[in-house]
Amino acid sequence: MTDISLCLVILLTFLTLKAESTLTLSLYRCSNSSYPNTTLTSYKADLDLILNSLSSNSRVPLGYYNTSSNAVYGSFLCRGDLSPGECEDCAKNATKTIVRLCPRSEWAFLWFDQCMVRYSNRNFFSSMETDPHLDGYNGESTAEPKQFMAVLEKTMGELANKLAAKYLRVEKKYATKEVKINAKETLQTMAQCTPDINVTGCVKKQN
Ligand SMILES: *[C@@H]1O[C@H](CO)[C@@H](O)[C@H](O)[C@H]1NC(C)=O
Ligand SMILES: *[C@@H]1O[C@H](CO)[C@@H](O)[C@H](O)[C@H]1NC(C)=O
Ligand SMILES: *[C@@H]1O[C@H](CO)[C@@H](O)[C@H](O)[C@H]1NC(C)=O
Ligand SMILES: *[C@@H]1O[C@H](CO)[C@@H](O)[C@H](O)[C@H]1NC(C)=O
Ligand SMILES: *[C@@H]1O[C@H](CO)[C@@H](O)[C@H](O)[C@H]1NC(C)=O
Repeated sequence: MTDISLCLVILLTFLTLKAESTLTLSLYRCSNSSYPNTTLTSYKADLDLILNSLSSNSRVPLGYYNTSSNAVYGSFLCRGDLSPGECEDCAKNATKTIVRLCPRSEWAFLWFDQCMVRYSNRNFFSSMETDPHLDGYNGESTAEPKQFMAVLEKTMGELANKLAAKYLRVEKKYATKEVKINAKETLQTMAQCTPDINVTGCVKKQN
């Protein structure tokens, strides 16, 4: 099955996308490796520094920010339909929550439905990566699965093209598409790349 891989975030939903006031945690991962427990290391200090920097730069037009300090790299991305204020709320919360959920981890990432935050001891900026990833589905079924899958595959391809075209005009690499499947069902899709990923990486087809 043809699939578009979109940096860290692929969100496909059958529900109307709208900003929620409550943050919903989808997934998080912490590295098993801890940074050294010694005051001689500056890892903790650098980590605190970048998380503070992410938090205080969370009201930005793109809804994306990256920063680094020595060997620690971090970024956040808000879902493209969030207002700057909603983005700020999410990023501020996520930078605190990630420390609470992943104390002493060398790298970690956390996805709310509304934003994601990630840090690492490795520079991950500008490189298209398919991991970490999250696959999920709801338990509902469609009346016409064959028709649905055909429309889905076609629409995802069109969404990728839309994203590629959009990339040239705007920096917020976010696109949505809505298609009627039949009289009763509507498919809603969205895709987003972090703005540091180039157009090739952003719309890369995977097999
Ligand atoms: C982050 O959001 C969650 C869910 O809305 C909430 O329970 C939690 O108190 C918030 N944490 C902070 C530090 O704002
Ligand atoms: C971390 O440890 C758990 C349990 O030992 C293991 O299942 C998991 O694969 C490890 N994760 C990484 C990223 O090494
Ligand atoms: C890490 O250092 C703190 C403060 O020195 C100490 O309380 C804690 O027990 C240490 N943890 C480990 C796993 O060594
Ligand atoms: C953020 O990412 C961009 C794109 O990779 C890079 O050019 C820039 O240096 C990064 N910013 C920091 C502070 O590392
Ligand atoms: C796009 O980014 C990838 C890394 O993710 C790199 O290999 C490739 O050379 C870049 N392409 C262009 C046109 O800059």
